[in-house]
Amino acid sequence: MPETGCLAAPAGCADCQSRFAILGTVAPPQGVPGGALDEGKLSITDSRTGSEYELPISSASVRAIELRQIRQDPGEFGMLSYDPGFTNTAACTSRIAYIDGAKGILRYRGYPIEKLAENCTYTEVAYLLLNGELPTRHELEAWDTELMEHSRVHENVKKFMDGFLYDAHPMGVLVSTVAALSTFYPDAKQIDSRSNRYRQQLRLVAKMPTVAAYVYRKSQGYAYPDPDLGLSYTENFIHMLWSGTRRQTNERNLKVLARALDTLFILHAEHEQNCSTSTMRQVASADADPFVGVAAAASALYGPLHGGANEAVLAMLDEIGSASAIPEFMRQVKAGERRLMGFGHRVYKNYDPRARILQRIAAEVFEITGKNPKIDLATQLERIALEDDYFVKRRLYPNVDFYSGIIYQAMGFPIEMFTVLFALGRVAGWLAHWEELMSDPEKRIARPRQIYAGPGEQQFLPIDERLSKARAEVT
Ligand code: CMC
Repeated sequence: MPETGCLAAPAGCADCQSRFAILGTVAPPQGVPGGALDEGKLSITDSRTGSEYELPISSASVRAIELRQIRQDPGEFGMLSYDPGFTNTAACTSRIAYIDGAKGILRYRGYPIEKLAENCTYTEVAYLLLNGELPTRHELEAWDTELMEHSRVHENVKKFMDGFLYDAHPMGVLVSTVAALSTFYPDAKQIDSRSNRYRQQLRLVAKMPTVAAYVYRKSQGYAYPDPDLGLSYTENFIHMLWSGTRRQTNERNLKVLARALDTLFILHAEHEQNCSTSTMRQVASADADPFVGVAAAASALYGPLHGGANEAVLAMLDEIGSASAIPEFMRQVKAGERRLMGFGHRVYKNYDPRARILQRIAAEVFEITGKNPKIDLATQLERIALEDDYFVKRRLYPNVDFYSGIIYQAMGFPIEMFTVLFALGRVAGWLAHWEELMSDPEKRIARPRQIYAGPGEQQFLPIDERLSKARAEVT
């Protein structure tokens, strides 16, 4: 049985114990997915047999397993739901993020993203995601101290990273290094212990900036500096990125850049059942340790349809080059020859609220770094797209990746680093879902079904008697 207890201090304190207990039993908010309010029955008539079924409705959903009773004859397996890409399947009940895609609303643990981005630090938000509630000042100080104390990596991690070629893609290096951390912490396999899970969450959130900074330094050929424990989480990240290089910045600018990065990490921190978080849950459902889980999640994030889109947006803007090339680019998009990267979302059918906040951050960063001229091209692309029937009909709006890369580039990051920065922020969300899954009484190994469309039983032929049928079909 999983343990319960205080997340802020595994030994526990009266304040946190009671808060945790309340959070664990509180009813989901009314009227939102997860609030089991709409009891009723779904009546189904199977036209093949004339049989009638009543499926219980809860939270505007029916349990897919209820479909199994629908069969033409008793020997049949029973009906499946078919949902490639999981466009209409809830895989879990979660209390972490709420999105209303039609209205453009995003909340973490009930708090609007705008409020968190404006008022919190990233570590405060990571605490919220992992613990279920915002920290008190005392809790935050303790959490920040613990994070800094765990920010170092074993010296062998540096040697491991040295093995990559100078031009290895930073995401490949990040994914491999996080997976390698699993071998440094064999205790991470003890996933049934709540206090042990907390230790791994602490290690991962604490070490991500160090690994991410070393990934960057490796790509530039710089030595790996130690974390500076006297700095804040994000200031220390900047210190590890640029210390001893020509990229120096004065105290005031450092504060502004650290605040902007912190806000970017908050915006990236969590987004419910996206591709990488679902991957984290999938891997964790097999009871794998969280280091390999995070490595798998980061691998999913690497894809250009997901977190890799921020890199793809910059490549796209470079390719378009100037406003005069926009009409031809748009023609190709509308002809289905390519996609407008950084646009569209499975859930948002309105402006992504994170994209709005990014526009504000862009202005603040440009005051320090100078304007990234690509912002003008991006703004024009956005304006043209939002007035175009193709995008209006499909309800395609800029997503978080449309502007983030432009900001990262102005800060001096090479485009290959953009998805690494996304992963750094998202690790809190991945781990919050890991924790939620581990204490979910409905947890089972994720194992979807399929609809088999291959051949029936075939006659086996020894190798010398086979005709080259398969190869002939491919070529
Ligand atoms: N440019 C042009 N057309 C698009 C785009 C786009 N960016 N996105 C969707 N469409 C069209 C698509 O062709 C389809 O048209 P039709 O109905 O005529 O076939 C329709 O809109 C629905 O698209 P879909 O591919 O069925 O939608 P999806 O929910 O499966 O995919 C998406 C969502 C984000 C993968 C997709 O919008 C996309 O490829 N966007 C570009 C990549 C991107 O920016 N990804 C970052 C997502 S947000 C951050 C994150 O998750 O990491």
